[in-house]
Amino acid sequence: MLNCQKDKFNLSDDVSYINCAYMSPNLKTVEEAGIKAIYKKSQPWKITRADFFDPVEQVKSTFAKLINCPDPQRIAPIPSASYGIANVVKNIHATSKNNIVLADEGFPSNFYSWKKLSDETGVEIRLISSPNIEISNARIWNENLLNAIDENTIAVSLGNVHWADGTLFDLKKLRAKTSENDAFLIVDGTQSVGAYPLDIQEVKLDALICAGYKWLLGPYVSGVGYYGEKFDKGTPIEENWINRLDSHQFENLVNYQPEYKSLANRYAMGEQSNFVGVPMLQKSLEQILDWGVENIQNYCKNISKNSIHELQEMGCQLEEEAFRAPHLFGVRLSKKMDMEKLKANFEKNNVKVSLRGNAIRIAPHVYNTSEDFEKLTTCFKNSISQKTIF
Ligand SMILES: Cc1ncc(COP(=O)(O)O)c(C=O)c1O
Repeated sequence: MLNCQKDKFNLSDDVSYINCAYMSPNLKTVEEAGIKAIYKKSQPWKITRADFFDPVEQVKSTFAKLINCPDPQRIAPIPSASYGIANVVKNIHATSKNNIVLADEGFPSNFYSWKKLSDETGVEIRLISSPNIEISNARIWNENLLNAIDENTIAVSLGNVHWADGTLFDLKKLRAKTSENDAFLIVDGTQSVGAYPLDIQEVKLDALICAGYKWLLGPYVSGVGYYGEKFDKGTPIEENWINRLDSHQFENLVNYQPEYKSLANRYAMGEQSNFVGVPMLQKSLEQILDWGVENIQNYCKNISKNSIHELQEMGCQLEEEAFRAPHLFGVRLSKKMDMEKLKANFEKNNVKVSLRGNAIRIAPHVYNTSEDFEKLTTCFKNSISQKTIF
């Protein structure tokens, strides 16, 4: 069982930051790695040829471990989720007879490339909306997604934890139905991987795309993508020198090389060596592996359980437990509560969460405590409008 890990971060005691879904705070080790790397470039002769390649290989191997991927060469460094998705979409050959299934109100980085493909080819986009019902919302949403997949579906693409309200989508069922229909299954793991278990050998995704600055606890512009075998001979969205075979032979770079390196390497971003970002991401991935993703989940579950119970008693709506991730969940206000008051309470008490329409997104990590949740619950309690008490 994990204890609170706040001492590994530079977080002040008077702020309850329960919003890792927005952006993670830096671990001290990550901060130090970044500062060291910035100083290194002040003396560029200290940046060696090996520095272009070895740290990236380390990140690929460490991320591969996190998702139980046997081959790190299936992992490519990417600057953003949108970049990783663009590489996926470029290699999906759709026609106007096909359809693509997306969860509605998914993050836009997993929408616009599909929209462009639709504009270019006429492929239908099926946006499956939240049913917006009080009971079993996620269960029905999952069913509707599965029902939308048919023999003309070419791809399903979604975050397995919905970024706005934390709804969990069942990847095993989606994989079964997409396989039956010979469709790609693409997952934006930005709001899950690092905090919610994902075993790539178990769910056999075709691609898994993760921005690194949230649950991977890395810096901005430090994502990672997994590309499965359907992408092995694909075309990347950009051509850069490092992705070509033997690029470590600097002397030969202008003997232009027609071959890519193996597997996912062709999808790696230009300047993948990112001398500051890569060592930072390496430190954060090592820390996550050391904690263990299951332990992070259990920790978040533990510190939030009393608060969740109290919120439900107050009439707030939360998704049923089987469809709710402990690290990211939405709370819909009870009718007695006043959103403006709640916002003011959060502000006054330094409780940092995100507001999404009539819901609050709560996203704890191992630096949070049950005291943070007590503060949060008090903010809700004090937002009950006086008029409705009598
Ligand atoms: C589900 C999801 N995907 C991706 C991103 C970030 O996308 P990008 O890296 O393209 O800026 C976010 C940011 O909030 C997100 O919630």
